Amino acid sequence: MKLLEKLTMTDGVSGNEGAVREIIINEIKKYCDDVSVDAMGSIIAHKKGKGRKVMFAAHTDEIGVVATFIDENGFIRFSNVGGIYVKEILYSKVRFSNGITGVIGAEEDEFNKKPSLDKMYIDIGAANRAEAEKCVSVGDMAAFAGDYREQNGVVISKALDDRAGCYILIEAMKRLKKNKNDLYFVFTCQEEVGLRGAKTAAYAVNPEYAVAVDVTDTGDTPEAPKMAVRLHHGAAIKVMDRSVLCHIDVREALLSAAKKAKIPCQLEVLNIGGTDAGAIHLTRTGVKTGAVSLPLRYMHSPSEVASINDINACIELIIAAADEL
Ligand code: CO
Ligand code: ZN
Repeated sequence: MKLLEKLTMTDGVSGNEGAVREIIINEIKKYCDDVSVDAMGSIIAHKKGKGRKVMFAAHTDEIGVVATFIDENGFIRFSNVGGIYVKEILYSKVRFSNGITGVIGAEEDEFNKKPSLDKMYIDIGAANRAEAEKCVSVGDMAAFAGDYREQNGVVISKALDDRAGCYILIEAMKRLKKNKNDLYFVFTCQEEVGLRGAKTAAYAVNPEYAVAVDVTDTGDTPEAPKMAVRLHHGAAIKVMDRSVLCHIDVREALLSAAKKAKIPCQLEVLNIGGTDAGAIHLTRTGVKTGAVSLPLRYMHSPSEVASINDINACIELIIAAADEL
C-alpha cells in the first residue's frame, strides 16, 4: 500500500492541499475520461456512463495548526485548523511546509489541569523572536508529523482522515471495469473547516445520487463510549451523523450491494461531527446522499489506526455501489 503511505505522509492542511492534489491527479488521469480542478481546489474526475449521475467524494485536506503570534523568546502561539482534541497533541511534532519541525509544549502549571490551546505553544528551538521569524511567519500552517506503519493488519499514520478515503476512491477507479452509471469522483478540499469544497463541487456536478467516503469513530477500545462500529468488521454504512440523515435509498443500495458481493459491512450512527455528505445533500434542490465510512481509532490525532481489511472492504463496496445506485 505504497500509495496510501505517500498520500498520508504528504502534508495538506485545509486550504493547502496542492501537493496531495498533484499526487491524486497523477494517479487517476489514466482511469477517467476527464479531470479538472475547481476554483476552491477540489478535483472533479469524470468516468462516463449512460446511467444515473452518481458522485463519490473524499476529502484531501487534514487538520493542523496555524501560527498566530511569536513571542520574544521564539515560542510560537497557534490556533487550530479543523477539530483538534487538545489532550492528544501535547508533545506532538508539527511540520511547516518549509520542513521546519516544532514540538507542542504547554505552560508548566497547565500540566495538572486540562490543557487548553491558548496555554500551548510550538517550540522550534529558536533562541528568540528574530531567529523564529526566519523560519515561520504568522499565518503559516503546520501538519502533524509522524511515520507510517503497517502491522497486525492495521495501518498507523496521521491523516488517514481522509487520505484513506482518497485511497479508497483511487483504487475503486483503477479496478472499476465497465461502468453503467455516469460516475464522478470528487476529491474535495477544506472539509475539516466546514465541508466547504464539497459544497461548490456538488453544485458543479449536480448529481442524482452521492456517497461520501470518510472515516468514523469506533467503540472498541477500553472504556470507549458505546458505539457499534468496530475495527476489522468491514465498511461502515452511515445512518446519520450531526451533518446528515443518510437517504434511505442510498443506504439500502449500499447494504444490498454489500450483501450481493459478500462484502463485510456494519451500520454507523455517529454522535459527533459530520462529513461531506452534510454539504452535498443540501445542494440545489437536494441530493440523495449516503456515506461509506472507514472505522478509525484515535481520529484527528497524529496516530490514527485503521484496519487494512476494512480499507479493502470499502474499496469493494464503492465498486459494487457504483452500478447498484
Ligand atoms: Co476529520
Ligand atoms: Zn474526514
